[in-house]
Amino acid sequence: MSADPAARPGRLGVGVVGAGRVGAVLGSALRGAGHPVVAVSAVSQASRERAATLLPGVPVVDVPEVVRRAELVLLAVPDDALPGLVRGLAETGGWQPGQIVVHTSGRFGVDVLAPARAAGVIPLALHPAMTFTGTSLDLARLVGCAFAVTAPAPVLPIGQALVVEVGGEPVVLAEEARGLYHAGLAHAANHLVVLVAQAAQVLRAAGVGEPGRVLRPLLDAALDGALRAEDAAGGDGPGAITALTGPVRRGDAGTVQEHAVTLAALGAATGAVDVPTGYGALARAATSRALAAGLLVPAEAERVLDALAGINAAPGALDPQDGTGAAPGRDDRQDDGGTSPQEDA
Ligand SMILES: NC(=O)c1ccc[n+]([C@@H]2O[C@H](COP(=O)([O-])OP(=O)(O)OC[C@H]3O[C@@H](n4cnc5c(N)ncnc54)[C@H](OP(=O)(O)O)[C@@H]3O)[C@@H](O)[C@H]2O)c1
Repeated sequence: MSADPAARPGRLGVGVVGAGRVGAVLGSALRGAGHPVVAVSAVSQASRERAATLLPGVPVVDVPEVVRRAELVLLAVPDDALPGLVRGLAETGGWQPGQIVVHTSGRFGVDVLAPARAAGVIPLALHPAMTFTGTSLDLARLVGCAFAVTAPAPVLPIGQALVVEVGGEPVVLAEEARGLYHAGLAHAANHLVVLVAQAAQVLRAAGVGEPGRVLRPLLDAALDGALRAEDAAGGDGPGAITALTGPVRRGDAGTVQEHAVTLAALGAATGAVDVPTGYGALARAATSRALAAGLLVPAEAERVLDALAGINAAPGALDPQDGTGAAPGRDDRQDDGGTSPQEDA
């Protein structure tokens, strides 16, 4: 066997366009899988440092030169920059027939690569469903990570094989499904971060010095429960919502009312009006989903929705002094007797 990895059969010379969080890490992973990285582009200091750390020894050159040297071009640039970059390289004759061109954007399928495809490239959209730090920590996270693969049918196996080579799990996705797919991932991963930020602020206001230590076991258990319930349902039935616990799940309208008022007061005092409005929107969603799943009866759902009535009408508009009247007391409702790690959250 040749000592030069590029000379071994099936190895592709990889050019990384954009040594950002994703480009540097995926380039390193492809290198680890035996594909030599032949060139990388990096202008900012952060990108140059990532290239030096994750792709040591790889020549840093400009974008057209990366593309000129590569058999597999990895485009890992901001979503908004991608269409112009592909078009610009087409206009200057940068693409080569037979070259594999991969982009990592979640939002786009392969249509965005049309100008390169017209020049004869093999287009692949490979999106890792992962959040990247741009450090070597991410390499281990690629193992078992789902990658959405969108490509013309004849070349789908190339995309799937590349994903498997870096330790990922390919999930084939239609071009027209990319928008929904990416919205679903962003809603889960990005808004989970917002939820933690809001909850941590509320706990700090309550005098909890290290909210993360309080939240971590609870959120680990809640996330695990929801994902297990979703997996167990396998697409049939209500899925994740069956793992819901807490006051909405119990139909505890008095507690929900108190939360609404307390959070409205916090919002009014601190300006964090996103906390009560966020709580209101999610509690309403929890109620309607719990009702649809048969976890609440209509009368319970109605009482919970009544308790939330004012919370989104005008941020911070709930009167903190008016927190006890509207909601029923504990004696007014059925008790499901449930307990779980989430119950007291
Ligand atoms: N971050 C994530 O967790 C994640 C996860 C999955 C998929 N993705 C997708 O992966 C892609 C890259 O995201 P990222 O988070 O790695 O971005 P990033 O960290 O901001 O890095 C972007 C890279 O692109 C380069 N760049 C910017 N504009 C360019 C242009 N017009 N031409 C050439 N290079 C350009 C930047 O170079 P300089 O720094 O030198 O300017 C930088 O190296 C995006 O499509 C994103 O949606 C991201």
